[in-house]
Amino acid sequence: MSGKLWGDGSEFSSELLDRFNASINFDRRLYREDIEGSRAHAEMLAAQGIISGEDLEAIKRGLAQVESEIERGEFDFKIADEDIHMAIEARLTAIIGEVGKRLHTARSRNDQVALDLRLWVLRKSREIAGLLRDLIAILLERAEENKSTIMPGFTHLQHAQVVNLAFHLLAYCAMFMRDFERFISSADRNNFSPLGSAALAGTPHKIDREMTARSLGFRGACFNAMDGVSDRDFALEAAFNASVAMTHLSRLCEELILWSSSEFGFIRISDRFTTGSSIMPQKRNPDAAELVRGKTGRVYGNLIALLVTMKSLPLAYNKDMQEDKERVFDALDALAECLTILTAMIADRQTVFNAEAMRRACAKGHLTATDLADSCTKSGVPFREAHHLARRAVNFAMEKGVDLSELTADDLASVDSRLAGFESSLDLTASMNSKSSFGGTSISSVETQIAIVREWLKS
Ligand code: ARG
Repeated sequence: MSGKLWGDGSEFSSELLDRFNASINFDRRLYREDIEGSRAHAEMLAAQGIISGEDLEAIKRGLAQVESEIERGEFDFKIADEDIHMAIEARLTAIIGEVGKRLHTARSRNDQVALDLRLWVLRKSREIAGLLRDLIAILLERAEENKSTIMPGFTHLQHAQVVNLAFHLLAYCAMFMRDFERFISSADRNNFSPLGSAALAGTPHKIDREMTARSLGFRGACFNAMDGVSDRDFALEAAFNASVAMTHLSRLCEELILWSSSEFGFIRISDRFTTGSSIMPQKRNPDAAELVRGKTGRVYGNLIALLVTMKSLPLAYNKDMQEDKERVFDALDALAECLTILTAMIADRQTVFNAEAMRRACAKGHLTATDLADSCTKSGVPFREAHHLARRAVNFAMEKGVDLSELTADDLASVDSRLAGFESSLDLTASMNSKSSFGGTSISSVETQIAIVREWLKS
């Protein structure tokens, strides 16, 4: 026997199905949103004369008790109640009696669940935006400290040109700023209330959907009830936004992992974020960064699961959609956790960049070859030809067993007279500072970028 709210108590439901059908074990997390939605709904019903003022007071009192029971851990979550919506309503009715049964007037679990999950996602999205802002702020702080910390810039993971660490970190600021904006704009686009859509077709009761929408903080009510109950775009967008943000976090973590290796030695990650090995006493494994990289896969998986769940569903509500919650919770929880740990790892003063190792790495790979060619073109040599001359200078350096940046004026002149006098273009710091175009790596360009990010953080 199941104690279903809509039955007369005589129908049989197997325990197997009850367990399979129930979402209470995971949607109990939505209790706050559910109670909030019920409060707003009851207020509206009373304002519209659909329930009495006394009924409203009883419902509010009952909901407050349910809420405190849940918060104190005294609430009995039962599989038989199926989901959080029915569990709360059943308990409400047990507390305040028959009046509790009036709450569901002009409402269905279909618009209720759509509302609860939407409220949760919009809030979590704003919380995540705040965490992204924290990460950007700490990256900016490290950038400001490292404007003249030169390091190799890579393409194909091969030494390419001289950049500085601030420039490299600012690239991540740009990514996380877009992530922030994606979360905010999705939250804004989806900021419409489905409450009052009822089962799928609206309701004959004279409800005021604008009133509930506004009291719950929405911009308005979604204009089509069928869409209201079947739309999960807000969840898909949030999972996509999380996936892109995780891509950025994963790329950053991959670099931190590489940089902390003996081969690079560009960074020492604080002991608080590394672990030892059970057998190799010298090990300092970058577990936190690796886990962020690893969790990226599960966030993508959540997005794909959500997309596939939704792709062939006929309108309007289908029980398949119950599968949405765990995926959304998992994706956004994972992202929030990763952002928190990474921000703490970078903020930790025992996480230190090794400027000397970065500078030393710049003296490998002939990073200033392009600079030599560029200088050469300034004296009228066509770029293709200048490129060829610089290539010969690189070969010369290789034969001599030194880096291009170590060649002398005489060396250059001996390679080709057209290279004479350009030895200053081989200097590593000068090379970095020559890239003064907008968005470039010179200290002055980087200062402009820092100002842009600082302004953005203020807005
Ligand atoms: N537990 C359900 C879900 O998560 C709530 C909506 C149920 N509606 C229904 N008509 N069965 O989707």
